[in-house]
Amino acid sequence: MKKIVLLAATALALAQMSQLANAADIKKGEELVNKGGCIACHGAGLDKPIAPNYPKLAGQYQSYLFHALQQYQAKHQTPLYGRNNAIMSGMVAQYNTQDLQDIAAYIASLKDDLYIRDEMH
Ligand code: HEC
Repeated sequence: MKKIVLLAATALALAQMSQLANAADIKKGEELVNKGGCIACHGAGLDKPIAPNYPKLAGQYQSYLFHALQQYQAKHQTPLYGRNNAIMSGMVAQYNTQDLQDIAAYIASLKDDLYIRDEMH
């Protein structure tokens, strides 16, 4: 029983630490997205892409978005890491890691059209 309590406490502490490390500024993310011209392709609210093969972004998980954005930045694409897309690699080249965290937090904060997930929030 003691072990379980200790484990739970450790997990909680770790969770709090990772939240600090990921502290992201949604407002800053919004500015970067507006300046970056992302809606030109991903559409208003980032959920109305201009082409059917362009992804909807709004409401996607923050950690997933951050991971995706970082992969477009990866200098050495390997079969195991990195996304090789000329458009998005060009788009994200200008940002540092904190920028990508902020952008991801902002996009995740937007409403998506999957009402089932919104109900669960
Ligand atoms: C010129 C068109 C264009 C612009 C402008 C653009 N994107 Fe994209 N974006 C795309 C395309 C096309 C893809 C799909 C690429 C792929 O297949 O990997 C994509 C993919 C993404 C993804 C991955 C989505 C997923 O589910 O994996 C993210 C995140 C993203 N874009 C964010 C942004 C942000 C943030 C900006 C502005 C800084 C931006 N995009 C500007 C065309 C664009």
